[in-house]
Amino acid sequence: MIEKLAEIKKLFTDKISGASTEESLENLRVEFLGKKGFMTGLMKMMGQLDAQERPKVGQAANEVRTYIETKLGEKKNELKAQALLCALEQEKLDVTIPGTPAAAGSLHPLNQVTEEMKRLFIGMGYEIAEGPEVEYDYYNFEALNLPEGHPARDTQDTFYITDKILLRTQTSSVQIHVMEHKKPPIRIISPGKVYRADNLDATHSPIFHQLEGLVVDKGVTMGDLKGTLEIYAKAMFGENTKIRLRPHHFPFTEPSAEVDVTCWGCGGTGCRICKGEGWVEVLGCGMVHPDVLRRCDIDPEVYSGFAFGIGIERTALARYGVSDLRQFFENDVRFLEQF
Ligand code: DAH
Repeated sequence: MIEKLAEIKKLFTDKISGASTEESLENLRVEFLGKKGFMTGLMKMMGQLDAQERPKVGQAANEVRTYIETKLGEKKNELKAQALLCALEQEKLDVTIPGTPAAAGSLHPLNQVTEEMKRLFIGMGYEIAEGPEVEYDYYNFEALNLPEGHPARDTQDTFYITDKILLRTQTSSVQIHVMEHKKPPIRIISPGKVYRADNLDATHSPIFHQLEGLVVDKGVTMGDLKGTLEIYAKAMFGENTKIRLRPHHFPFTEPSAEVDVTCWGCGGTGCRICKGEGWVEVLGCGMVHPDVLRRCDIDPEVYSGFAFGIGIERTALARYGVSDLRQFFENDVRFLEQF
């Protein structure tokens, strides 16, 4: 039986050297130590031995059993370590490889010009005022001398919520809100969205932006207005820019003017940008109409004021030489990245 044990040990040693998975180890364990395994089979035959031999064989059998158990344990640990190494190799992470840079956004060109205008006017002592985009007819039209049925309303058709509530067509409505709550001296600008029932094309959009300005104080003159706009034009379009006030009609200012600046493309000689004119229209302005002041409880005998309304898209188109307004709203990153 001692020889039989040696055979079992040798067989086991051969087999375990070829085992490469935990599953095959388990199979070996069953084959040698299991209920129907070699060792159990052998032990059952112990009964046939005489009393003298039994302890020797028993001891040898125990040694072989311990040998098998130890080898199985060792091999199991070895396989585990190998599996871990393999996994580490596969999941290796090189922390020194440069990462993917996070794409940083930037201000939209419309916001860039708006911010620039805000900085300019804040520097001249203006405050920022805000007004609602969903507005009463009164603030958008009536209080600005555009009563119901006034023909100038036709040029500013808009989106109505009810008969009396609409999406504002101009930031001029903010003038009224400000003058209702604040008495002169007043010096505000109000940038914001406005709406008109216009179809989208290269120069029109149902939503666009304006920047309103309003100054009311004692002794404010048209000269103050012109000086202010000159500073604006030079800051936005270049130091050599000249402005020209063309008489115009706005119901809420008297007198009123449209303002042109010398073309930034050609300096005034005529080019594609100014369509050969040498001048480009950039805003509307005027002296606040006495009726508008009176409606807000400001005495036009004591106070006077000027107002202006700047088209932000128009300024941005000019500034960046963009020819189609729709590009500002399409939000194509390839376009926006250029600013
Ligand atoms: N609100 C006018 C428009 O949308 C622009 C404008 C003209 C604003 C004259 C003013 C102004 O404040 O005085 O066409």
